[in-house]
Amino acid sequence: MNNFDFYSPTYFAFGKDRELDSGELVKRFGGTKVLIHYGGGSVVRSGLLDRVKASLDAVGVTWLELGGVKPNPRSGLVYRGIELCRREYIDFVLAVGGGSTIDSAKAIAAGTVYDGDFWDFYSGRHIDKALPVGTVLTIAAAGSEGSPDSVITNENGMLKRGASGDAIRPKFSILNPALTQTLPPYQTACGITDIMAHLYERYLTNTHDVEVTDRLIEALLLTMVHEGPRVIEDPNNYEARANIMWAGMMAHNNSCGVGRSQDWNSHNIEHELSALYDCAHGAGLAVTMPAVFAYVMQHDVMRFAQVASRVWGCQMDFAHPEVTAKAGIEALRVFLNSIGMPKTLGELGGKEEDIPKLVDVLCNGDGRTGTITGFVKLNADDCAAIYRMML
Ligand code: NZQ
Ligand code: ZN
Repeated sequence: MNNFDFYSPTYFAFGKDRELDSGELVKRFGGTKVLIHYGGGSVVRSGLLDRVKASLDAVGVTWLELGGVKPNPRSGLVYRGIELCRREYIDFVLAVGGGSTIDSAKAIAAGTVYDGDFWDFYSGRHIDKALPVGTVLTIAAAGSEGSPDSVITNENGMLKRGASGDAIRPKFSILNPALTQTLPPYQTACGITDIMAHLYERYLTNTHDVEVTDRLIEALLLTMVHEGPRVIEDPNNYEARANIMWAGMMAHNNSCGVGRSQDWNSHNIEHELSALYDCAHGAGLAVTMPAVFAYVMQHDVMRFAQVASRVWGCQMDFAHPEVTAKAGIEALRVFLNSIGMPKTLGELGGKEEDIPKLVDVLCNGDGRTGTITGFVKLNADDCAAIYRMML
């Protein structure tokens, strides 16, 4: 196991009606004037936004609101949010929504207290300082409620890039599984896929003897395989929603990723798809993961055979582990398809003629120098071959 630092100070309030504690939690973490940030309107329609506002009013915390975050959140709204926070002396940003809203809130929080262009953080600069952020989560997916990360798309070139720093880890996150019951089945399935991707990206490691994190990841993957179909069949199954919601947080606050190298090639390859086609991140991952895994499988065939046998129940063939490994990748693909996820680039709106452009932005955009690196190092030819496998 590698040396590591792990600092995950987010306070979690989990369970039914916990959004009613928003005001008290904002106050506890020092907020006196809050920017409430939200997306395209689901939280207005469900009545959640009104409940959050009432909770802030009840403890005397004042607030302003900024809605309109789109899935694959854009830089334009972040600039508006920064301007608003500075002008109105906002001291706390409260995201009410999914990963997109939370990521936009984190970008605003970091940008408000930074002298330069907030995009510097998405071009490699570490985030050391930010306004405090809190979240009321409405979809189990991105894991941003417990992560130090934010992903934003710059409308200038449609570059989708991530930024990181413990300063943007939420001070608190409210996780009420009942809030996810209004999700359309497709979005629920996208979330399940993203959670599984966060687990696979950590499972694919070049570090040996990391039994504890291997086993944690396998447990969470097994949970998704069990609970995913149950929630697709019955969207009101609170217990299944609850297990998925906590798994989503565990999958990405890095408790399963410490002390080991990680992959993230699937995420990098997918981010170009959601940037260009504006598809859901989870749907993009459903198409990306099986292609990437099949392409890199030979790098460590036993790792793929291990997850195939321990999670997907494939018979371990020690004489021919590549047979087991392939069966596990196919089982993942079939599972994702069974919960409603796409299998091909075409289903995401992608076209073969776009592949050179996708590869160019992926490998050369924003300071990259011709390769992406994770479980294996991939050059432009490798990435083009992977995109072609998705056709
Ligand atoms: O905008 P509204 O109207 O709220 O609708 C949203 C949106 O259309 C809807 N929705 C959310 N909760 C709902 C609901 N509809 C009905 N009922 C509810 N309870 O679902 C749609 C998707 O929302 P979004 O916030 O985009 O979903 P998600 O949480 O999957 O976030 C995706 C973004 O997170 C990034 C992705 O790249 C993508 O941009 N990621 C962020 C990460 C991080 N910060 O750590 C890591 C991830 O790997 C990921 O890259
Ligand atoms: Zn993801």
